[in-house]
Amino acid sequence: MIDMRLFSSVLLSAATLLPGCDVSKEDTAANPAPGKPSPRTAATAPVMHRPRVPPHVLEIGRTVYQKHCAACHGDKAQGHPQWRIKPANGMWLPPPLNGSGHAWHHPRKWLVAFIKEGSPPGKGTMPAWQGKLSDQEIEAVIYWFQSLWPDKAYFLWRQRDKQP
Ligand code: HEC
Repeated sequence: MIDMRLFSSVLLSAATLLPGCDVSKEDTAANPAPGKPSPRTAATAPVMHRPRVPPHVLEIGRTVYQKHCAACHGDKAQGHPQWRIKPANGMWLPPPLNGSGHAWHHPRKWLVAFIKEGSPPGKGTMPAWQGKLSDQEIEAVIYWFQSLWPDKAYFLWRQRDKQP
């Protein structure tokens, strides 16, 4: 006999986890409170060097970002202050892209596709950039916001997706 109270509380917590991406636990792992390194991160993050992105590519990315993305994602890519709160109308607020959100949970391919296609209908106001930005501009804007990620978030991203 299943304990229904237990069962429904498990369902409830599964449901509250579903809407966003797989958030908080790993955010904390990548961005531990100052002075409190996460044991998991400390144990698993290997020493890696970040690839050097040519300055002119970063400059293109910064320009694209300031012109087309900053109005929603914030001038420092910090996101909307309430981005984590599940919206009553289902429309998510712009998350940070500076490494304190969950953009680093997604492989580069996913990021490119999301930027091209924008929010799924009814999920947010993210515009589709396909046809408005070139592939090079999209690549550059991703490099630019990745340059803001703390090393730990960047390395976990690379490890997770075996990025080149
Ligand atoms: C009109 C507001 C708006 C503009 C302009 C905008 N975004 Fe967004 N963006 C959003 C919202 C809202 C979401 C979350 C929506 C969702 O989940 O569907 C989002 C989500 C994203 C995500 C997914 C992040 C994650 O952690 O899952 C990326 C990447 C992104 N935006 C990049 C960009 C880039 C790059 C630009 C500029 C070229 C841009 N956005 C311009 C509103 C905007």
